[in-house]
Amino acid sequence: MADAGDLKQAAGRAALDHVEDGMRLGIGTGSTAEAFIHALAGKVEAGLKVVGVATSQRTEALCRELGIPMQTLETVPQLDLTIDGADEIDPELRLIKGGGGALLREKIVAAASAKMLVIADETKLVETLGAFPLPIEINGFGMIATYLAIQKAAQDLGLECDLTLRRLGEEPFITDSGHLILDAAFGRIPDPESLSRALHDVPGVVEHGLFLGLAGEVIVATQSGLRSMT
Ligand code: A5P
Repeated sequence: MADAGDLKQAAGRAALDHVEDGMRLGIGTGSTAEAFIHALAGKVEAGLKVVGVATSQRTEALCRELGIPMQTLETVPQLDLTIDGADEIDPELRLIKGGGGALLREKIVAAASAKMLVIADETKLVETLGAFPLPIEINGFGMIATYLAIQKAAQDLGLECDLTLRRLGEEPFITDSGHLILDAAFGRIPDPESLSRALHDVPGVVEHGLFLGLAGEVIVATQSGLRSMT
């Protein structure tokens, strides 16, 4: 039986079939994205010409180390394809992302791409989003007020949530863009679109990890092989 690591590798390799010579690629963050990055580096070494835009400093460093040519969204603002992992995927290809803390850049890069391809092992598939705590990136200014406003916005939608400030050891986790993350454990998010709008209405919220209408295809690696969801 393949373990989660094997399945991530399989999904990462399968994504290569979607990469064409000359593409401008958004490159995701997390262990599944890293499996793709390693596979991509092999192709680049063999002569494939692509330019990558990273969704995090961590991904940027890995890609450079492996010899993948990198640019930024400032120099390459429109991308052909973004390949990234996810924390949860529902049957409508709605996602929760941000478990690795890169949700803001991941969403900006995905939105700048003609297509977002998600790669995942089958443990990421859910019927209803929300068992994975939703990462919400917030400005440090007025953090408590923002915390309370998020709780109120959730209550107004009939949702209960436990909000936890993400930490790295003793210190608050700081994103690549200098913000904080609140992880919101809802249990179930029956109406992600309404929650997305409500969170965006809270002034201190920079972005949240609900990716709605962004994923064009998901490659899922399962025990019985690869499956594509569109
Ligand atoms: C990074 O911020 C996330 O959005 C990742 O894409 C997500 O957490 C999936 O990570 P793994 O591929 O490591 O499971």
